[in-house]
Amino acid sequence: MFKNDLLKNKNIIITGGGTGLGKQMAKTFLEHGADVSILSRNAEHLDAAKKEMKDYGYNIKTEICDIRDPEEIKKAVDSIENNNKINVLINNAAGNFISKTEDLTPKAFDTVLKIVLNGTSYFSLEMGKRWIENHINGVILNVVATYAWTGSGYVVPSAIAKAGVLALTRSLASEWGHYGIRSVAVAPGAFKTEGAWSRLLPDESYENAITSRNPMRRLATKDEIANVASFLISDMSSYINGEVLTVDGGDWLYGSSMFNMMEKLPDDVWKIMRRR
Ligand code: HXC
Repeated sequence: MFKNDLLKNKNIIITGGGTGLGKQMAKTFLEHGADVSILSRNAEHLDAAKKEMKDYGYNIKTEICDIRDPEEIKKAVDSIENNNKINVLINNAAGNFISKTEDLTPKAFDTVLKIVLNGTSYFSLEMGKRWIENHINGVILNVVATYAWTGSGYVVPSAIAKAGVLALTRSLASEWGHYGIRSVAVAPGAFKTEGAWSRLLPDESYENAITSRNPMRRLATKDEIANVASFLISDMSSYINGEVLTVDGGDWLYGSSMFNMMEKLPDDVWKIMRRR
């Protein structure tokens, strides 16, 4: 999609980078010439991702970090940064589960909110302070979901948290834009990862229910999201600030109009309608 040196001056940190979308973004950014570090709570995920990137011919840095703890964030960034300062933060780490809301405990709400809303906020704060002090034109890319603005049943803690992350994206765009710091977001539609699929779908047959209500009749691929992320963090979008780019094949718009379901009407019914 882009020239291979698109991200050559970017030193990127990805939270939750050991698996799923985070790992895919790491690979795509490396292919475009970036330096990449990934963080995860899980050492096995980090080791496996590091090895996988090595097999592709890339070296990455890894750090264990629970983004719910601001001290761990500080330590991880200190350990990664040396002469080459981080200038892109990808707030990718998330936690989510599907449940009837009335079955959730307060701790269940806390668990998701602390990862998604607090963790994203803490990391943005840590990098923002460093960038302002060192006059670095950094970029924050947040990963939200379209239910940040529509809301959604059965993933209520995640919907609340992503709505907060969207507000954070837009707020920091206004406040930190004059420092040359951009804040943007991507809102992916459904795509297949071990983490999301095992937690969010009752069974495999549900995949068909998701694709059949999407105008494009398919899931996203991880690289379709990673390409958009590459564009948003690159200097190609140096004047995009506070924007969220939806990459869902039109899914949320489709659900928004009662007329869209009329695609199922047979032609003879359309003829009757026209006569009427
Ligand atoms: C109801 C649940 C639950 C479930 C946990 N809890 N799972 N409640 N249904 N399925 C409750 C527990 O009962 C407990 O409360 C509290 O949450 C904490 O549970 P723990 O097991 O101690 O939490 P933890 O070990 O931290 O694991 C939870 C998690 C985990 C952090 C959310 O699933 C995780 O690590 N997820 C990371 C990966 C992930 O979620 N990826 C999907 C992201 S996809 P009590 O009170 O009982 O002790 C995404 C976007 C989707 O977000 C958008 C699609 C378009």
